[in-house]
Amino acid sequence: MTVLVTGGAGYIGSHTTLLLLESGYEVIVFDSFCNASPESIRRVEKLTGKNVNLIEGDIRKRDDLKKVFSVHKVDAVIHFAGLKAVGESVEQPLRYYENNVCGTVQLCEVMAEHGCKSIVFSSSATVYGDPHTTPIKEDFPLYATNPYGRSKLMVEEMLRDVYVSDSEWKVVLLRYFNPVGAHESGQIGEDPSGIPNNLMPFIAQTAVGKREKLSIFGDDYDTHDGTGVRDYIHVVDLAEGHLKALEKIASLNGVLTVNLGTGQGYSVLDMVSAFEKASGKKVPYEIAPRRSGDIAKCYADPGYAREVLGWEAKKSINEMCEDTWRWQRKNPNGYTEIS
Ligand code: NAD
Ligand code: UD1
Repeated sequence: MTVLVTGGAGYIGSHTTLLLLESGYEVIVFDSFCNASPESIRRVEKLTGKNVNLIEGDIRKRDDLKKVFSVHKVDAVIHFAGLKAVGESVEQPLRYYENNVCGTVQLCEVMAEHGCKSIVFSSSATVYGDPHTTPIKEDFPLYATNPYGRSKLMVEEMLRDVYVSDSEWKVVLLRYFNPVGAHESGQIGEDPSGIPNNLMPFIAQTAVGKREKLSIFGDDYDTHDGTGVRDYIHVVDLAEGHLKALEKIASLNGVLTVNLGTGQGYSVLDMVSAFEKASGKKVPYEIAPRRSGDIAKCYADPGYAREVLGWEAKKSINEMCEDTWRWQRKNPNGYTEIS
């Protein structure tokens, strides 16, 4: 089976590509490298001893996509390609809609033209907005609070419409909670450009001495210690969820929407102390004002994923921290080598 992985050089894409290769899939990675380096795929090749067909291209460009589909018989697409920074999406909404929504339109059109109608899409827990309660189930009300989230919701709705118009489509919408961690080799991991927005890379860069201290955004939330609670999920568990989705897709009728989370919520302070324990390093922090748009608690009900995909997250918070630390320590500058 040949799988096209858009955005496959990125954080989640590279880990998924690795598992796909290990499971015997033929993999084509299609990436514009706007937020990734081809080095991630070189390392995946080294780790697996297998070749990846790596194609530089942009999902917004029909010709780039056509070149792939006219040469290869693609059985299914895992669609990671997208921009993902919430703050940036507020400043540059059109760029986000053009990339994430228009890019997906182009992708689906070219897929349909070539008779490929199976797609696994990277959605996000952000589509639940500020949930009325936790744990979050797939049938909770959906709304977005920023252009990034809206782009995910729009694509979800678009893919549902595509299925309604043509029942040959098979669609899996995977709503990720908070991906963290890295491959246990320490060879691939998350490589944010500039100052990280997300908690885990910020903690890791603080522990390694690249940042002076962590600002904890608010300690007055209605949570066990006042700091925000999230469902952190190891990226390798997440990648395995994609393999399960691919196994399911062949027998699927319609659109399947699944949360990928652990079901366990940890606070910012829980994460800081787990990281300190795993790394043996101090993570200095200060309490700062709340970050606008943040919510108190967000964690998944992972029951449906277990039921329909036979998948559940296995890796502990300790493994998430240890693996992040190994990656950070071995690659203090990510994939960029310093001379
Ligand atoms: P990432 O930025 O590391 O990976 C995205 C990849 O897509 C990058 O390699 C980038 O170069 C590529 N890309 C972007 N636009 C492209 C385009 N127009 N054409 C071709 N390639 C393009 O991000 P990630 O963390 O691996 O996220 C993967 C997907 O999962 C994204 O769609 C993201 O929105 C979604 N997601 C991520 C998180 C998270 O916290 N990491 C949470 C929920 C959902
Ligand atoms: C962010 C995105 C969300 C996306 C999710 C997973 C925002 C507003 N939301 O959410 O759309 O789906 O990542 O990628 O960016 N924190 C600190 N200090 C920091 C960084 C974070 O205290 O320097 C806290 C936050 O307030 C939050 C927790 O750590 O309580 C996790 O933050 P983060 O990693 O940014 O993830 P989300 O807020 O869940």
